[in-house]
Amino acid sequence: TEMDIDASAYDAGDHESYMHKEMLEQPVTAQAVLRGRLDERFGTAHLGGLDMDARDLRAVRRVKILGCGSAYYVGQMGAALIEELARIPADAEAASEFRYRDPVIEPDTLYVAVSQSGETIDTLLAVQEVRRKGGRCVGLVNVVGSAIARECDGGIYLHAGPEVAVASTKALTNMFLGFALLALQLGRVRDLSIADGKRLVAGLEKLPGQIEEILAGEDDLVAVAKSLAEARSLFFIGRVRGFPVAREGAQKFKEISYRHAEAYQTSELKHGPLALIDPEVPTVALVPRDELTERNIGALHEIDARQGPLVVITHAEVDLGEIGARRIDVPRNEPELDPILLTIPLQLLAYHAAQHLGHDIDKPRNLAKSVTVE
Ligand code: AGP
Repeated sequence: TEMDIDASAYDAGDHESYMHKEMLEQPVTAQAVLRGRLDERFGTAHLGGLDMDARDLRAVRRVKILGCGSAYYVGQMGAALIEELARIPADAEAASEFRYRDPVIEPDTLYVAVSQSGETIDTLLAVQEVRRKGGRCVGLVNVVGSAIARECDGGIYLHAGPEVAVASTKALTNMFLGFALLALQLGRVRDLSIADGKRLVAGLEKLPGQIEEILAGEDDLVAVAKSLAEARSLFFIGRVRGFPVAREGAQKFKEISYRHAEAYQTSELKHGPLALIDPEVPTVALVPRDELTERNIGALHEIDARQGPLVVITHAEVDLGEIGARRIDVPRNEPELDPILLTIPLQLLAYHAAQHLGHDIDKPRNLAKSVTVE
């Protein structure tokens, strides 16, 4: 079932903005990207649109993801998933830079272009650079029949439906899920065990409901968002899986609230930016329950000791001890899938900060929904 609904027939309805409507659609749109693609029996995914058989998938030695802005940050989340599940070296690069450095294109690398609109010129030109040099490029694209979708060798449609707000929400969530499916399929033709495959399939099936749970807590986040909106500058911090989440959170916040927000690796704080922490500079920290929790909490102590206001996105079982922080708990899933659940509260925080400041949320100043000129 293709969801290329006519955008002119799509309106914000009872919602105050498209962004709000699109955020709240996520439990349903997340199901659409997974539908028909999960295989419970073999703990894998089927992505017919890739047009690659098991042998082609086995031949992939490296994965390079190309996208711009938020699509680039989700690409970083996707690269981490692919490395973790398939044990194939993977990274993401800003598509806007790619062609200018005369990149080496390798035949056993799988290139993945990721784009909501499918019309972003920088991403399109990166795809052309890959293909001109004989590389294989597949697309993770939302808009069916768009320029990038047509230019790629195959791909995964995101089925998020039309997205109108400049700040991307539901399409990004589906990009993450698209990468999870790809990582699962790449993993299962290699060494990912059937038990791990089944564990992840079950985790993916649980995700839409958990996204809904987070969205249902929206009202509790409004006061936090308002307090963040008052700051002139703020940090978003996370480590490893959480770092691209911090980058995406800072991006969304800047885009619609026009506040300076900078993403940092939590581990890098003490190598410079800690000098900026004071009662005027809040930090939004991503602290999932994982192998880095204790170290992350150590960094929170450093911030707290300098009276830096803290908002911590975490899991209920994480004990923050004496640290003075506003905490936002997200449901637990498989740790590999944490990034998307950590992202949802960041959307809500950016949204309510911008709302509080009275900005035009769907059409932030200086920005276009899709950037089709160089
Ligand atoms: C997302 O909130 C931004 N508006 C922006 O970074 C966007 O993700 C980027 O321009 C890429 O757009 P695309 O997905 O349509 O290619």
